[in-house]
Amino acid sequence: MQRERHLQLRTGYPVRTPRLLLRPLGFDDADALLAYRSRPDVCRYVPFDPLNRAAVIDRLAGPWATTALTDEGQALTLGVEVAATRTLVGEVMLLWSSREHRSGQLGYAINPDFAGRGYATEAARAALGLGFDELGLHRITASIDERNTASANLARRIGMRQEARFVNNEKLKGEWCTELVFAMLAGEWAGNRP
Ligand SMILES: CC(C)(COP(=O)(O)OP(=O)(O)OC[C@H]1O[C@@H](n2cnc3c(N)ncnc32)[C@H](O)[C@@H]1OP(=O)(O)O)[C@@H](O)C(=O)NCCC(=O)NCCS
Repeated sequence: MQRERHLQLRTGYPVRTPRLLLRPLGFDDADALLAYRSRPDVCRYVPFDPLNRAAVIDRLAGPWATTALTDEGQALTLGVEVAATRTLVGEVMLLWSSREHRSGQLGYAINPDFAGRGYATEAARAALGLGFDELGLHRITASIDERNTASANLARRIGMRQEARFVNNEKLKGEWCTELVFAMLAGEWAGNRP
C-alpha cells in the first residue's frame, strides 16, 4: 500500500531557503514577472513565448494561482523572492505528472538581471524538496534543450543525472532541438538534500 498521506502538496508559505522565499504569485508581481517573461532571451530554449502584460495577468488569474497540488496533471508555480530585499527574481515550477508512478517535472526561470548568483539553483533545490519531501514523489525529471547550457549546468549542480539525449526529437520555435532528460530519484534526493 502506498503512503497515501503524502500524495498531495499543501505546504505553508513562504518556503524559506538560506537567501530566498518561495511563495505563490500575486497580481502585485505583474511588473516583476513582465521584466523577464517578456524577454526573448529568457524564452529562447523553452516552449513558451515572451508574454505581454495581458498574458501575465491571465496566467496570474489562472495557472499561476495554484497554491497546492491535489491531483496529477497540476502544476505549482512559485515566485522566487530574495528575502533580504523582497525582490521577485524568478520562478520555479513543479508539475505532478503521474499519481501512479509518483513522478513530477521541474522547471525554473530567473530574471537575467539576477542570474549568476545561484538563486535559481537554490530555488530549484527547494522545489525538489517540495516534490520529494512534501508531495512524496518517487522521481522528478527536467527536460532541457541541449543548447541551454545554463539550465543543464543547474540540473547537474543540484544532483540530477542525465538519463537521456534525444537527438532532434522536438521542433522548438521552428528548429529541431536535441532534448536532454535529467532525473533524480527520491533515494538520490536523500544524499543531495541541502
Ligand atoms: C536556466 C537559468 C535559470 C539558469 O540561471 P543561472 O543564473 O545560471 O542559475 P543560478 O541563478 O542558479 O546561478 C548559477 C550561477 O551562479 C554561480 N553562483 C554564484 N553564487 C552561487 C551560489 N551561492 N550557489 C550556486 N551558484 C552560484 C554559479 O557558479 C553559476 O554560474 P556558472 O554557470 O557561470 O558556473 C536561466 O538561464 C534562465 O532563467 N533561463 C531562461 C529560462 C530557462 O531556460 N529555464 C530552464 C528551462 S529547461
